[in-house]
Amino acid sequence: MKKILCISGSLRPTSTNTNILKSIPHLTKWPDLSFSLYEGLDQLPYFSPELDYEGATPSASVADLRAQLKTADAVIVCTPEYAFGVPGVLKNALDWIVSSGEFVNKPTAVISASPMMTGGDKANASLVQTLKVMTAAITDDRILIIPTIRTKIDATGNIIDEALKKELIKIVDSLNSSI
Ligand SMILES: Cc1cc2nc3c(=O)[nH]c(=O)nc-3n(C[C@H](O)[C@H](O)[C@H](O)COP(=O)(O)O)c2cc1C
Repeated sequence: MKKILCISGSLRPTSTNTNILKSIPHLTKWPDLSFSLYEGLDQLPYFSPELDYEGATPSASVADLRAQLKTADAVIVCTPEYAFGVPGVLKNALDWIVSSGEFVNKPTAVISASPMMTGGDKANASLVQTLKVMTAAITDDRILIIPTIRTKIDATGNIIDEALKKELIKIVDSLNSSI
């Protein structure tokens, strides 16, 4: 089984972005893939280089994030945009990975979803830039901006837009082809 770790940039229990990630495994059959959702974003300490020196013992939550990323064959990040940027909790998590390097050459997809027409495009672009500087393997077919998400997902979190389902399947297929 190849492992795909899904990371949502939203802490809301009813987050549309988290619901997209929860829906993905059910879009079609991927017999060789297993999906897991990272749920520790709000447990991480605030990043400081003072806590991240060489030889430091990371906190349990940071060690857990790094371990989950290390054992993942690919990663899907799906995030909202806050004030034209990446949510702070998500950026905080990524800052903990800069020195430890779990994103190096990791096939990674970057998705943003928003009720607005812009689909979180600024957060998406910023996230792509951050992950690329960490040398995550992001190709154009693994980047997706989803506008007007509330018309494409129902109240129980099921994706009801057929075109979106196909786009998400293509993203997973792209990741699967390179792991
Ligand atoms: C503080 C705040 C700032 C926001 N800024 C933006 C923004 O810049 N662009 C955008 O598309 N949506 C923005 N939104 C709306 C979010 O896209 C919307 O709340 C979305 O549903 C959040 O994603 P989630 O459902 O996964 O939690 C903002 C929401 C909040 C609470």
